[in-house]
Amino acid sequence: MNKIALLGGIYSNYRALEAALADAHGRGADAIYCLGDLGAFGPYPDRVYPLLRAANVQCIQGNYDNSLAEGLADCQCGYTDPRDNYFARLSYSYTFRNTSDENKAWLRTLLGTRRFTLGNRRVLLCHGSPRKMNEFLWESTSPDCFLEYLLNLAQADIVCVTHTGIKWHRSLSGNRHFVNVGVLGRPENDGSTNVWYTLLSADSGAVQVEFLPVAYDYEALAADMRQEHLPEEFIETILTGWWTTCLEILPHKERARGRF
Ligand SMILES: [Fe+2]
Repeated sequence: MNKIALLGGIYSNYRALEAALADAHGRGADAIYCLGDLGAFGPYPDRVYPLLRAANVQCIQGNYDNSLAEGLADCQCGYTDPRDNYFARLSYSYTFRNTSDENKAWLRTLLGTRRFTLGNRRVLLCHGSPRKMNEFLWESTSPDCFLEYLLNLAQADIVCVTHTGIKWHRSLSGNRHFVNVGVLGRPENDGSTNVWYTLLSADSGAVQVEFLPVAYDYEALAADMRQEHLPEEFIETILTGWWTTCLEILPHKERARGRF
């Protein structure tokens, strides 16, 4: 195994998932992993599960999956802003009601991390950070020394996370790497409608991280969301590429790139 595809939060965007799986197969990925948060935000949560099973995607548990599996009262996103909290609750309640018992039971079987060797590099996949499932790791607030501390804690050469919704890659001394693989669930607040996944390869030690844009039928997804009476604020994000909710978690630098 030399080249793998890493999918971040899917957030029920089954249309982007389909497009990303086809793209990853076309690029010759040896295996495909999903770093968790299968549901949230989007329509028809049960539609992503058959796609993941058919493509043999190896999944780990995100905070959303953990909440659904354990029947918790909220998504563990940790919002404090009343407006963000309102939308988070609405989204969680919709996803909880529309995820089958069978799929919730399957989410319960997922592990929180996965570890393997790629080339000669030790890789750890986790959802938020190696120390906490729902920790947000942003590019602007993660200095090298902090990422090195997390790599040491994880006893890994490459750590891959998702959870924040915005991709980034930091190359560190000793051929060590920290990667936020982005998400498939919604665009990353840059005014573009595409979403992102990551190809990671480590041929005889040389590590390559490639972020790949995924174009998909976002207008059809928006129509699905209207059909399901999901908030117009969510639909606007899908149609414009700008975040309209969950803004409180963004550090200043990341927020300044967006419209709101
Ligand atoms: Fe998450």
